[in-house]
Amino acid sequence: MSHITCCSSYLPKKMSSSYSSFSSSMVAVTLVMVLLLVDSSSAKLSTNFYSKTCPKLLSTVESEVKSAVSEEKRMGASLLRLHFHDCFVQGCDGSILLDDTSSFRGEQTAGPNNKSIRGLNVIERIKSKVEDVCPGVVSCADIVAIAARDSVVLLGGPSWNVKLGRRDSRTASFSAANGGQIPAPTSNLNTLIKTFQAKGLSTKDMVALSGSHTIGQARCTVFRARVHNDTNIDSSFARTRQGNCPLNSGDNNLAPLDLQTPTTFDVNYYKNLVNQKGLFHSDQELHNGGSTDSLVETYSKNPKTFNSDFAAAMIKMGDISPLTGSKGEIRKKCGRVN
Ligand code: HEM
Ligand SMILES: *[C@@H]1O[C@H](CO)[C@@H](O)[C@H](O)[C@H]1NC(C)=O
Ligand SMILES: *[C@@H]1O[C@H](CO)[C@@H](O)[C@H](O)[C@H]1NC(C)=O
Repeated sequence: MSHITCCSSYLPKKMSSSYSSFSSSMVAVTLVMVLLLVDSSSAKLSTNFYSKTCPKLLSTVESEVKSAVSEEKRMGASLLRLHFHDCFVQGCDGSILLDDTSSFRGEQTAGPNNKSIRGLNVIERIKSKVEDVCPGVVSCADIVAIAARDSVVLLGGPSWNVKLGRRDSRTASFSAANGGQIPAPTSNLNTLIKTFQAKGLSTKDMVALSGSHTIGQARCTVFRARVHNDTNIDSSFARTRQGNCPLNSGDNNLAPLDLQTPTTFDVNYYKNLVNQKGLFHSDQELHNGGSTDSLVETYSKNPKTFNSDFAAAMIKMGDISPLTGSKGEIRKKCGRVN
């Protein structure tokens, strides 16, 4: 939602009925200044940012995502997660895409990303196609945001208009990526709420965005403790998952985050939670007798509500601290600074 749109139509009516013209103009000036301040971090993101400078952008990204996802459906999940992990560290600035070099340590080997993030090569391929049609114009951070949306759509989820105009960072932060800004699968509800709140996202946004775990795969090493030790877990589900995730081996064995439809973007994730079949401790925390139970139940029964809350929350997540204007750069290759 744009503050500007909301208030330019709302203000005059209210002013003419309740304020003198002098104080109303003071109020208007003050409000506009406040709105500009509040909005300055995302003021330049807009859905039509490249409509003149790169009209083929959206179709180029879409066709590359389509071919990557048709080759391997899981790639849709991996591209969605890349956008999340980019946005939660330094904002949505492409920082996660920067490869390590002998003199530079980026985010890719930080705990939540090491041996876990995927799709960097797909983003690099899309970038090179985009460079072919409009060189030096489109940021990698924007490509990641569009690829995340296209992935969700291809797997059957909702669509939304992606706001654009982010620029790419010249830096990345290993320590921030390692420092708890990306929530861990061992988190309790309170920690989940706080880590999203720290990025300007509400509890509702957090629960809706967690619906991303309706697609994709996870390694045994991140769900072992839950399936062997947690008590708020369906026992036959726990036994099944233990089978491919023994106590002392199999760290890299994979299991689907949604046991029912792991390549379809639907509400089965929430149905699983209601049945104590969340794969991570953190997933099950969303339905464990706490404040978010009722929202999980709502989403489990109302795909339309989930889809619209999810899309709104993705737009909010994409607005986290972008670099705009002359900040940062438009990388030539996503894996390194110019
Ligand atoms: C709420 C807190 C969250 C926690 C604790 C969490 C944790 C995790 C973990 C541990 C994995 C598996 C990693 C591995 O096995 O290597 C995973 C996978 C995944 N996460 Fe999350 N996540 C959270 C929120 C999100 C959000 C907000 C999104 C997207 C907007 C997301 C999208 C995904 C996807 C799609 C996968 C599967 C990736 C693939 O198959 O490549 N997650 N998450
Ligand atoms: C990343 O994972 C590999 C393999 O598990 C491990 O050897 C390496 O130490 C990890 N890197 C960091 C920075 O933790
Ligand atoms: C289960 O909990 C016990 C006691 O806290 C702990 O020693 C053990 O390492 C845990 N097992 C796993 C797989 O996390």
